[in-house]
Amino acid sequence: MTDGAGDDSAGAGGGADRPFAGLADEPAPLSKHPEGYWELCAADDVPSPGARGFVLDDDGVRVGIVVVRQGQSVRAYVNRCPHLSIPLNLWPDRFLSPDGQGLQCATHGARFRLDDGFCTAGPCKGRFLQPFPLSVKDRKIVALEP
Ligand code: FES
Repeated sequence: MTDGAGDDSAGAGGGADRPFAGLADEPAPLSKHPEGYWELCAADDVPSPGARGFVLDDDGVRVGIVVVRQGQSVRAYVNRCPHLSIPLNLWPDRFLSPDGQGLQCATHGARFRLDDGFCTAGPCKGRFLQPFPLSVKDRKIVALEP
């Protein structure tokens, strides 16, 4: 699976288009384990339903992701709105729509389903957030190398 680790597909190339670019409170990047994964947090550290942002250091390239939890279901997307390829959030961990039923881009209000990242409203309606591989091991959320 491709995560878009390249400049133009993931917005993670370190340029102005990279996820979290310009955010004052960008989370500290997490280092990759030598076996090729990032340990993010305990499963209960993400509210349910809720979302939390992380920045992964992928061999010097920063990749922003948003982890979404709904009960036992946990998934992740690259933190990049399909409209302008900028981060969804303007403030740390503020990803959900006011009703808590979807993700919402803070810039122009595009809404995305939690379970598959499909955009249901806004300027990128009909497009998807890019999924990022994830697993839960021993109650810890782990991002996997795409
Ligand atoms: S940048 Fe996300 S809706 Fe415009």
